[in-house]
Amino acid sequence: ARVAVLISGGGTNMAALLYAAKRPDSPYEVVLVASNNPDAEGLKLAQAEGVATFAQSHVGLKRADHDDIMHNHITKAGAAYVALAGYMRILSGNFVEKWDGRMLNIHPSLLPKYTGLHTHQRAIDAGDSIAGCSVHLVTADLDEGPLLGQMEVAVLPNDTADSLAERVKIAEHQLYPRTLADYVSRATSPDYLTSKVREIAL
Ligand code: GRF
Repeated sequence: ARVAVLISGGGTNMAALLYAAKRPDSPYEVVLVASNNPDAEGLKLAQAEGVATFAQSHVGLKRADHDDIMHNHITKAGAAYVALAGYMRILSGNFVEKWDGRMLNIHPSLLPKYTGLHTHQRAIDAGDSIAGCSVHLVTADLDEGPLLGQMEVAVLPNDTADSLAERVKIAEHQLYPRTLADYVSRATSPDYLTSKVREIAL
């Protein structure tokens, strides 16, 4: 399966997806890394790995117009799936609809807990002993699409938001490639699949 990865920053999850795809038995390949931030560090890494990249700043563009530009490039690259990996944009309904059942996101909390930002600080403030990360399908509701996979991470007594984030990232790098691979292989339970995906899968 051909996958486009969307990033805004460092792109460590993108790197994890890319390196996992180098395994000969990977059911997906990364055909494009695209960003709304032309300075995203991850773009350089993708280029060095020989992956096509594309950057279009959202500054000065209407949300729907920026999403259209991204969509056109993703389509041109022949991607069948989109993996959001630290893509710090709220997506227009039209874009979400176009990729319904074929767009995944990774979020640094055990959803449905802590949608949005500052997840690690919120977990620490709440006194949680377990934090973690989730991969889910993207729907119109931010961080609320059907869950495809989660990984738990123990919170240590002296954890700060930064130290916890760093450890959760290690888990993210394990979870995302595996969940994406399972999903494109349709190895996940049919219960997770939206009706549209089921249509594609049949
Ligand atoms: C990750 O923590 C991811 O869960 C969140 O944004 C961060 C992206 O980090 N959505 P990176 O750019 O992959 O290092």
